[in-house]
Amino acid sequence: MAGMNHSISTPDTSPDSQAGKGYFRRHIFFCLNQRDNGETCCAQFDANAAFERCKSQVKAAGLAGRSLVRVNKAGCLDRCAAGPVAVVYPEAVWYSYVDASDIDEIVESHLQRGQVVQRLLTPAHLGR
Ligand code: FES
Repeated sequence: MAGMNHSISTPDTSPDSQAGKGYFRRHIFFCLNQRDNGETCCAQFDANAAFERCKSQVKAAGLAGRSLVRVNKAGCLDRCAAGPVAVVYPEAVWYSYVDASDIDEIVESHLQRGQVVQRLLTPAHLGR
């Protein structure tokens, strides 16, 4: 119809939109797995505190939300020998962190500026 602008209400049907690409710029997943059988797990290294720290720092930096950063809990990521671990997508960069200052650096460097924190990278050979 002449004079009507359909661009606002017309859904974006591009392949990227349909795949949800770009909904979040980055995702960081923290393994919070707890094992009670004596095997190593990320929870024993206070992974939950690191997850909460990351969430609060992302929010404080104004990075939380659509088109920005999402911080998520995860179960075992199958790299327990390197724990505690977190992984950032879409870059698929794995981190082995120790304390809150490591989390702050991941937020400020990688999640905010896209700069990988080399010193915290999980060694490639470490898996389960
Ligand atoms: S328990 Fe954390 S990666 Fe397996």
